Amino acid sequence: MKVNKVCCIGAGYVGGPTMAVIALKCPDIEVTVVDVSKERIDAWNGPFDQLPVYEPGLKEVVEESRGRNLFFSTDIDLAIDRSQMVFMAVNTPTKKDGEGAGMAADLKYVEACAKNIARVSKTNKIVIEKSTLPVRTAEKIKEILLKYGRKDVNFEILSNPEFLAEGTAIKDLFKSDRVLIGGETSESGQKAVKALLDIYARWIPLEKILTTNVWSSELAKLASNAMLAQRISSINSLSALCEETGADIDELSEAIGMDHRIGPEFLKTSVGFGGSCFQKDLLNLVYLCQFYGLDQVANYWHQVIKINDYQKNRFVQKIIDGFGGNIKNKTITILGWAFKANTNDTRESPAINVTNNLLEAGAKIIIYDPLVKKDRIRMDLKHLWKSLSLPEQEIKKRNSLVTIVKDHKSALNHSKAIAILTEWEEFKHFKWDAISKVSKVFDGRKIIKKNDLNTDSIYSIGV
Ligand code: NAD
Ligand code: UGA
Repeated sequence: MKVNKVCCIGAGYVGGPTMAVIALKCPDIEVTVVDVSKERIDAWNGPFDQLPVYEPGLKEVVEESRGRNLFFSTDIDLAIDRSQMVFMAVNTPTKKDGEGAGMAADLKYVEACAKNIARVSKTNKIVIEKSTLPVRTAEKIKEILLKYGRKDVNFEILSNPEFLAEGTAIKDLFKSDRVLIGGETSESGQKAVKALLDIYARWIPLEKILTTNVWSSELAKLASNAMLAQRISSINSLSALCEETGADIDELSEAIGMDHRIGPEFLKTSVGFGGSCFQKDLLNLVYLCQFYGLDQVANYWHQVIKINDYQKNRFVQKIIDGFGGNIKNKTITILGWAFKANTNDTRESPAINVTNNLLEAGAKIIIYDPLVKKDRIRMDLKHLWKSLSLPEQEIKKRNSLVTIVKDHKSALNHSKAIAILTEWEEFKHFKWDAISKVSKVFDGRKIIKKNDLNTDSIYSIGV
């Protein structure tokens, strides 16, 4: 099957970068990325240095293809109608209400996409699950397509989960460890697999493209994220033991990671993992295990999240202890709001919870992040306060105790204590000795060297 037009529903952190790379690598394929959010589409069509997703290298990729064979649009129906392949890269957050609330993935956006595809399609389509989904979601999508679609239109559903990490998305897409394509074993299913494989094969070596059945592919994505998160929780749990025993967590990670059976990646201790996916995908996995009656398995994976919460709370407690048990009216500067360096994404960032817990204990907070905008930070906090059902008056009070500054000098000159929450490169190169006021440092990313500072009061996680 010759594919020359594809579209992607969802112009977010996955849809935007993945489609930009497909457009770059396949100039003969017209790629249209659509979204219900006009604001997001406008931003994708706007100035190259203000794209809605910040990723190193993304600007250059979009610059080369936009207007040539890469388009961003809100006309979802037209894009579906014209395409032979439709990717679904919409969000799949944790359910807020109904059955499985707080655990299961909310499939309402995926289901809405499936209905849209069914309603609009007049010709055969290959429908591709790019979003991270519970195992056997393809079954549900097929039901919807059959129920609402035309009888003379054939839909093939493939699972093609995305493994990119934010901050390195373009690098990851150019040189993927693997591309996974799950399809049905039927002749038409295999033809669809081949059509998608032919696209990736333009730049990914064939030995890195793995084809499996649909359910393995869906589950492999959840399991990969669970395994990555599990490594972080494992090392973070050991960071607490290091602090008690005099061992150093970095030395421990290095020693463990040199075993080629373990490997060095994802063994960097932190204040806890953040990001939009690890927690939601783990919860989703736990829910699935419970659903199938596998309570022991569910408990095992749930522990990964519990250790992550423990690590965030432990960090807050270390700060309080650093002030002799009372931080009322003390000013603490939070350095870093993004959930990791090199992204403007703040979803589930540990900084949000840490800040709130410090405010709750009476502290005043100054926040500085080199990339995250002021409004985003305020919105993150308000969102958390609303979800905790705090009264309006309390929200107002906490909000008034937060100051957001635009540069690190203002951040550091107005406070004697700093807490490092994101491992931004610039934090590693501060001229600390010029900033004499800082007397207490709480390093949640273990990026500060003792000799860099005049003070002895440095708490480094895992030491
Ligand atoms: P996102 O929130 O950044 O983007 C999703 C977009 O889908 C939004 O812009 C939203 O407006 C749009 N949308 C929702 N419903 C729609 C509909 N019915 N029609 C048109 N547009 C619609 O989400 P994301 O971070 O790109 O994640 C998307 C999926 O990819 C999730 O399932 C996530 O788990 C998975 N994933 C994310 C990453 C990552 O690094 N962010 C990596 C791998 C996989
Ligand atoms: C993660 C996975 O790495 C991707 O493969 C996956 O596609 C993606 O989730 C997803 O499904 O959304 P991402 O969340 O973007 O990617 O970023 P990571 O690099 O995995 O970092 C996640 C969190 O773990 C960050 O807060 C980071 O600071 C933390 N982390 C990471 C550590 O604390 N220690 C480490 O050693 C690595």
